[in-house]
Amino acid sequence: MKNIFNFLLSFLFIANIAHAKKVLIVGSGGREHALSWKMAQSPQVDHIFVAPGNAGAAQCKKTENIDIAADDINALLIFAQEHMIDLTIVGPELPLTLGIVDTFNEHGLPCFGPSQKAAQIEASKKFAKDFMQRHNIRTAEYKTFIDAQKARDYIKQQSNYPIVVKADGLAAGKGVVIAQTEQAALNAIENMMQKQHFGHAGTTIVIEQFLRGHEVSFFAICDGQTWVPLTTAQDYKKAYDNNFGPNTGGMGATSPAPIDTAMQQRIMREVVEPTVAGLSQDGIPYTGVLYAGLMISPEGDPYVLEFNCRFGDPETEPMMMRLKTDLYDLCLASAKQTLRTCNVEVDQRCAVGVVLASSGYPISYKKGYPISGLKQSRKDDETVVFHAGTKTCDGEIVTNGGRVLCVTALGNDIADARKKVYNCVANIEWDGKCYRTDIGLN
Ligand code: AMP
Ligand code: GLY
Repeated sequence: MKNIFNFLLSFLFIANIAHAKKVLIVGSGGREHALSWKMAQSPQVDHIFVAPGNAGAAQCKKTENIDIAADDINALLIFAQEHMIDLTIVGPELPLTLGIVDTFNEHGLPCFGPSQKAAQIEASKKFAKDFMQRHNIRTAEYKTFIDAQKARDYIKQQSNYPIVVKADGLAAGKGVVIAQTEQAALNAIENMMQKQHFGHAGTTIVIEQFLRGHEVSFFAICDGQTWVPLTTAQDYKKAYDNNFGPNTGGMGATSPAPIDTAMQQRIMREVVEPTVAGLSQDGIPYTGVLYAGLMISPEGDPYVLEFNCRFGDPETEPMMMRLKTDLYDLCLASAKQTLRTCNVEVDQRCAVGVVLASSGYPISYKKGYPISGLKQSRKDDETVVFHAGTKTCDGEIVTNGGRVLCVTALGNDIADARKKVYNCVANIEWDGKCYRTDIGLN
């Protein structure tokens, strides 16, 4: 009897290890398409659900879109329980700041990302700045205000312009004003604190010193105590060529960023290590991906502009093309605090991603235009068209957002990857297609 019982136990154990894994990816952008594309390459993973996904994610092998909004944590939890999801990966910041990881963990479900408390590193600029000051992490000098009159008085004492005014909370990438004049800074204070352009996000503001230099992003995967470097990327935030026009979510990205190994070592030693250690000391262990947005000063010192508590978009698209490690293993090790045993391997080749956007993005744009040339543009393993704002309508793929696609290619160097990307971009058309022609040039 005992033998039969032991046999059954070991059978169940082996069956559990061998059972094909189910993954839930939360979000609907190019980042989530790239994460599902990479996840589908894992031999362990049998089925991927994307909530709510887009037309591209739906075409990935093993992948299915489900009609649940990314911030509907209760519905996501019920879905994950009913479908016995082995791992959930959260793309956007909103569900993270609403506490999706805490909720899933309370129900015994592994979820890749930081806790609600740790997500404050992105959700509150004041929290991030105070944290950096406490732990001696290099960042622009700053002051925070909850009183508009005190903020105005402070501005009137300043003589160095530009000066940077930031809403404390999440503002969909629009909460930062680089004020060139005193009047522009006063207007920003009024818009954020009095007119409440960003709602509650602007009731506290940060005013900080303007930093010069070049921007790079560094990504690390963390499990609370241990962290591993993933790679670097450069994002192109302005809407038009040569960095003109309004700020966007990102019009393209390259990976790696143009920084040398010595600078990468400094970023790890002076930014990532003290951040992960400092959060742990403060009783807020950080799990998930830590995205450090940095300015490398003309003197060659890395300053933190901001932290994000998630993968970047469009940085994830070129980064996933370079990642060699099984994404399931990596994210599960982060969620289960076993990163020490995980090796991250990244392709030494370079990747470039170019966003194809709707005319008028980021200000106002129309949706619903049929996209042509997608089938012809699927050429090889080195060029992938990731979807962002797309949906299927009567069997046809149509535009459904400001950023529509992110065409991404691997090459021997950035110039080679650029060539492949722009060849592919030329094949895709819709009424109002817009893109930058200088991604990877500077
Ligand atoms: P953030 O959301 O804080 O990263 O700010 C968005 C963008 O504003 C950054 O990527 C920079 O291009 C710019 N920015 C933010 N803070 C500063 C600063 N202190 N000095 C110069 N540029 C900044
Ligand atoms: N591309 C900028 C971001 O993801 O925040």
